[in-house]
Amino acid sequence: MGRELAGAVARWVHLHDLGVEPRLVHVCDVQPEVLRWYERLDPGPALTTDHRELLADDRVDAVYCAVPHHLHEALYLDVLRAGRHLLAEKPFGIDLAAARTLVAEAEARPGQLVRVSSEFPFSPGGQEVWRWIAERRFGRVIEVRSKFFHSSDLDPQKPINWKRRAAQNGEYGVMGDLGMHALHLPLRAGWRPRSVRAVLSDLVPERPDGRGGTEACDTWDNAVLSCVAHDDERPFPLQIEAKRIAPGETNTWIIEVDGMDGSIAFSTKQPKTLRWMEYRRGEPQAWSVLDLGSRATYPSISGAIFETGFSDWLQQMLAAFVDEAAHGRDGMRQPFTCATPREALASHELFTAALASQRDGSVVEL
Ligand SMILES: NC(=O)c1ccc[n+]([C@@H]2O[C@H](COP(=O)([O-])OP(=O)(O)OC[C@H]3O[C@@H](n4cnc5c(N)ncnc54)[C@H](O)[C@@H]3O)[C@@H](O)[C@H]2O)c1
Repeated sequence: MGRELAGAVARWVHLHDLGVEPRLVHVCDVQPEVLRWYERLDPGPALTTDHRELLADDRVDAVYCAVPHHLHEALYLDVLRAGRHLLAEKPFGIDLAAARTLVAEAEARPGQLVRVSSEFPFSPGGQEVWRWIAERRFGRVIEVRSKFFHSSDLDPQKPINWKRRAAQNGEYGVMGDLGMHALHLPLRAGWRPRSVRAVLSDLVPERPDGRGGTEACDTWDNAVLSCVAHDDERPFPLQIEAKRIAPGETNTWIIEVDGMDGSIAFSTKQPKTLRWMEYRRGEPQAWSVLDLGSRATYPSISGAIFETGFSDWLQQMLAAFVDEAAHGRDGMRQPFTCATPREALASHELFTAALASQRDGSVVEL
């Protein structure tokens, strides 16, 4: 993900001037062969294998930190205590205790911006769904479904890596990896789950270790979380799913909001296509379909009819981060911020409850 962010910085000219421009001045990775890729950048950033060296560089105002989950707490704390703004990766600590420590540290430093990476709501479709939710065009909520699907683990011969080991990825398994993608917009809408019944699946319990043997693959592959959330104090079913084994899917986020007055649906599988229905009582229930083009959170040079993709949404998210860091929450060019530490904490509370639900086969209140 470090290279993805470096790519977004390198083509900043793609965006219209937003009064602030990030420069990549220092990169850290413990693997020298990973650092070698950054030598292609011009101007080239300083390179180090020791993050303390990066934090001692007084040109560094903000740090994007993308490391395995068991390192989040220690590295994010180092960044915060060095006085830098932080764009953290999800899940924002390996477990609930780590997330609580990080939120407390972040909130003790109001002069530093702390946000958590979640780029999909910055897609044109994600933004349309968000505007539609903010305008409350749904009437009474019937049901909300938000799902994030990979098929990356369908092949049992795929060798293990850190994301498939609980010690490095966390007990949450796929929820820690992919859950925030599904939760960002529902949480921003105020639809915080009040209860959950989880069904977690461990479909591939061991994997090749890459050295001719096998190793236990002790993380949950798939998570289906049937939650109850409230809108206007009225309960509704909120279905959150995160799956590493969803046959045929690559990196699909699906959000569907059904309401008594209107419904809306967006999937990154058809990244141009927004579907919605405005329902008037007694009239036909007809869905409208619109090709979205490139309408962005932050305007870009792309013509309005050109489609966007993952790297564009990531750049839009980074723009929101640097806009907020430079201009403050009230001075931002547009109002949609990156995911907050409190939203990340709410995701941890849900994942922790989901683990308990799976253990006991019970509905867990939050
Ligand atoms: N926002 C997204 O869409 C998205 C996508 C993938 C991963 N992620 C998140 O990004 C984070 C990293 O995932 P990834 O896929 O980039 O993993 P990765 O394994 O590809 O990269 C992690 C890098 O961290 C380096 N590293 C390990 N320890 C370090 C240390 N002490 N100091 C400096 N570097 C160190 C490793 O050498 C490696 O190059 C995770 O939190 C993951 O959940 C987010």
